[in-house]
Amino acid sequence: MPAFTKTDFIWKNGTMMPWNEAQVHVTAHALQYGTGVFEGMRSYDSPNGAAIFRLDAHMRRFHASANAYELEIPYSIEQLSEASLDVLRANKLENAYLRPLAFFDSHSFSVWPKDCPVTVTIIAVPGKSYIEGGPEHGARVTVSTVRRIDASTLPPFVKACGHYTNSVRAVQEAIRRGYDDALLLNSKGDVAEGSGANLFVVKNGAVITNDLDASIVGGITREAVIQLATDLDLPVVIRPITLTDVELADELFFSGTAVEITPIKEVDGRVVGDGTPGPITRRLQKTFFDTVHGRVPQYHSWLSATGQTPGPTSGPTS
Ligand SMILES: Cc1ncc(COP(=O)(O)O)c(C=O)c1O
Repeated sequence: MPAFTKTDFIWKNGTMMPWNEAQVHVTAHALQYGTGVFEGMRSYDSPNGAAIFRLDAHMRRFHASANAYELEIPYSIEQLSEASLDVLRANKLENAYLRPLAFFDSHSFSVWPKDCPVTVTIIAVPGKSYIEGGPEHGARVTVSTVRRIDASTLPPFVKACGHYTNSVRAVQEAIRRGYDDALLLNSKGDVAEGSGANLFVVKNGAVITNDLDASIVGGITREAVIQLATDLDLPVVIRPITLTDVELADELFFSGTAVEITPIKEVDGRVVGDGTPGPITRRLQKTFFDTVHGRVPQYHSWLSATGQTPGPTSGPTS
């Protein structure tokens, strides 16, 4: 994702404050040990103003990630959801990327975070493509030598800040090799996922993806894609994905909040299909974008809208 564009306000511990005032001390436990949890969400312009895609699911996962680290978020799912919409309103944003973060703050250098206060923030910035041109033209990926974290050491499905050093190492290697992103294998040697996205394989008309036991983050976009594919009468198969599946795929794509639906056009120099986004990927992508922009009534319940369009002259639309 390109550099973020600074906005006016950040929500921090219940208060909307100017961007530059949302500071953290260098002794924060999370900075020293990675003990924070986060979410990544997107909002899109819709007939009801900016609408956050699957806000409730993201906030539930946020709380679940926090529970895994015995980090008590002092705000309910409802309060955090309303705060997320408020951040969009305060910054007059429509198509945005939102980053809720909760972390153990400054108190002690003990690894045990006892008595560290919990700080919670929600940032929203204008939304951009994670991989430039990726959704339109496809991404080039490499199979990483860095294996995905494993449940025997860290719970892979938890979105904890420290877990992402795993993704950082994989993506650094991928960029060094001249690719856009990495595919990480799990400890069994099956394909797990990308550095920040789930993987789908299309083969003989079927849409195939793996499950939590493959050491993946249980993607909220992945879940939506499974639902969209099912509703489009595409056969969906949930099973482990091998490197052979990847080599022989008709189509491959990533799903995730940041990458949305990004076709994969090449794996380690091997071209996928004819090197352009395949028809099933395109179909799912179109349905996905129609859905997030509120153009498909069937999926309106996935959207939480601000009810207002941005800009000084615009007022509430509903
Ligand atoms: C490692 C990893 N896998 C998968 C995903 C996709 O999850 P979601 O669709 O909920 O954004 C993400 C993004 O959150 C991620 O960081």
